Amino acid sequence: MNVKPSSMPLVAAGLAVLVAIVGVALWTSPWEEDATGGAAGGPAASSEVKYDEKLAGSGKSLAESNGCTSCHTIDGGSGAGPTWAGLWGAQGAKGGKVDTAYIVDILENPPAAMASYKGKFSEADSKAIAEYVKSLAQ
Ligand code: HEC
Repeated sequence: MNVKPSSMPLVAAGLAVLVAIVGVALWTSPWEEDATGGAAGGPAASSEVKYDEKLAGSGKSLAESNGCTSCHTIDGGSGAGPTWAGLWGAQGAKGGKVDTAYIVDILENPPAAMASYKGKFSEADSKAIAEYVKSLAQ
């Protein structure tokens, strides 16, 4: 870049604005992170739903190894199926509240839009997956 001496004040002003913008961004970002931080790990402090951590852990593995989480996000993001974040206790597509019995039933008699898992999971495995969905209640 060939900067003429006469344009130096302009360049300096431009730099000052840039520095100010970066400064503001650096100043505000820690606060934004603070607001979302603490969402991960352990029984969520903000949630009153109690769940079995060990059972939810094996449900998580089952859900991941069986591809559930390729259609269902766990963070509220969009996917082929509804996100599991906050799904627990919500009105289910088949009617009734989403709870353990509802999820066990979904896996045996899935809604048309979902892949069928009929006969794939033992009741214990279905309940573990349900516990994992429960752990994502908000
Ligand atoms: C191919 C994508 C896909 C996969 C894989 C998938 N799902 Fe789904 N799931 C869907 C869709 C789409 C719906 C919504 C169906 C509807 O609303 O009719 C759904 C609905 C659900 C619901 C019910 C939500 C409600 O409101 O009734 C549950 C619970 C669920 N899935 C759990 C699972 C579990 C557990 C697995 C893995 C064993 C799984 N899903 C795998 C696409 C998928």
